[in-house]
Amino acid sequence: MSKEFDVVVIGAGPGGYIAAIRAAQLGKSVACIDAWVDADGKPTPGGTCTNVGCIPSKALLQSSEYYEHAKHGFKEHGIELGSVKLKIDQFLGRKNEVVQQNNDGILFLFRKNKVQFYSGKASFDGKADNGRYNILIDGKDKGSVSAEHVIIATGSEPRALPGLEFDEELILSNTGALAIPAVPKRLGVIGAGVIGLELGSVWRRLGAEVTVLEAMPKFLSVADEGVAKEAAKLYAKQGLKIEVGVKVGDIKTSAKKVTIKYDNAKGEEQTLEVDKLIVSIGRVPTTAGLNLESIGLTTNERGFIEVDEHCHTELENVWAVGDVVRGPMLAHKAEEEGVAVAERIAGQHGSVNYDLIPNVIYTSPEISWIGKTEQQLKEEGKKYKAGQFPFMANGRARALGDTNGFVKVLACAETDEVLGVHIIGPMASELIAEAVAIMEFKGAAEDIGRICHAHPTLSESLKEAALAVDKRSLNF
Ligand code: FAD
Ligand code: NAI
Repeated sequence: MSKEFDVVVIGAGPGGYIAAIRAAQLGKSVACIDAWVDADGKPTPGGTCTNVGCIPSKALLQSSEYYEHAKHGFKEHGIELGSVKLKIDQFLGRKNEVVQQNNDGILFLFRKNKVQFYSGKASFDGKADNGRYNILIDGKDKGSVSAEHVIIATGSEPRALPGLEFDEELILSNTGALAIPAVPKRLGVIGAGVIGLELGSVWRRLGAEVTVLEAMPKFLSVADEGVAKEAAKLYAKQGLKIEVGVKVGDIKTSAKKVTIKYDNAKGEEQTLEVDKLIVSIGRVPTTAGLNLESIGLTTNERGFIEVDEHCHTELENVWAVGDVVRGPMLAHKAEEEGVAVAERIAGQHGSVNYDLIPNVIYTSPEISWIGKTEQQLKEEGKKYKAGQFPFMANGRARALGDTNGFVKVLACAETDEVLGVHIIGPMASELIAEAVAIMEFKGAAEDIGRICHAHPTLSESLKEAALAVDKRSLNF
């Protein structure tokens, strides 16, 4: 006998588990089914984000940054440490503990909100005459559920290079790149996107010689050009070798090394030999095994589930959120969609402002931005004013010993409304929140300039950049 729910959510990543909790808060009976388990078969909800994405990567970024500080950064503070040793088992073990705390936290939240959790792979089994959708858990092995509404939140998986499967020994996806058992001497990375830069940074800090090969002729073309230029300069100074405009050719693996043939930007044939190779060239949506055909749902030519601006599919009461649908593949975007869908199911008017989803790259320095870049505003022919403030002129940044980078505010030349904020520097991931809030309320650069910011804080740099829009920065 199938158990009946108002809402069944497939996938317990940030899109799915948040949707399940919000629907339960709004009084719906909710089940959430997730397939992720650890090596011992224990359910580990949280999806890519918790298990092999946001959380473990930030844990390793933090630990590797401490290591680098201990080796090179503390001396200027008058702290001598003697020899600094890396215990890789502890380094990876702590990351695993952080992941587990998050897995357990989600199970706790499910219990707290009375979300019925099922561990297993979900597949559709058609629609009943009463309009309810039937869903099997691990085929028929673990029973079945039915629901009036279904939210598909099955996420994404790493894209492989054609003919080069991930073995997680030599050819690593994000999964293997977060668990290399010994620091490789030479590490190759294909793709200078977010994963390439973050995980390339982790292993470089630990001593690996890292070479990143990027196909696009421009480095970090998604970011503001000024920020991308500054980032390229700083990464190069750290020893992260990035080659842009390359064409990757044949890749061969032998017992202990990987040989990559590629053409550089000048078209010259090059050979790179590395001990491990991370392939981080984007991700593809996960829909395999869902048996979408049984309910008459198809995916588009890129494998995504098609939805409208409210994450509703072409089928009545079937919704999809997160990486499995269009838009940036970001955990906070998935979460916002999950909340909005749950609220719509409950008869409310949930919506997502797709123009204001912040981007963050957690390297050192951190990079974050919201809204339009200068190049986008130029392309659109929009008249704008720009104000920039360097962290070098910020007292807190000097005290921290972290003065690289700047804050840039872009505002409409006529109305002064903030159109974009771009930050490269310490704590950029946290500083961007104020800019998002201001832009949500359609605030002006002058508004930021008139808000009292605590002193000494890094956030004063945002205020100063906003004042610089009208050429009246006080400390620069
Ligand atoms: P997922 O998190 O992928 O979860 C989908 C879940 O559905 C999985 O648990 C999967 O097992 C389950 N599932 C799939 N099919 C089925 C099925 N048939 N039955 C049952 N369960 C199923 N984003 C950020 O915003 N900030 C970051 O710092 C960040 N860092 C990242 C670092 C790395 C290395 C990677 C790889 C990604 C990172 N991301 C980051 C992206 C972020 O992880 C994703 O955007 C986010 O996880 C998407 O959430 P989701 O709920 O759509 O899918
Ligand atoms: P990405 O889309 O960020 O970067 C992929 C890069 O690979 C691009 O620069 C692309 O031009 C390049 N590329 C593609 N094919 C190539 C080829 N054949 N040869 C050389 N270069 C090639 O994807 P990435 O880094 O794999 O990350 C996947 C997703 O995970 C991203 O969409 C991102 O949103 C998310 N993520 C977010 C993080 C964050 O928010 N801090 C951290 C890590 C991942």
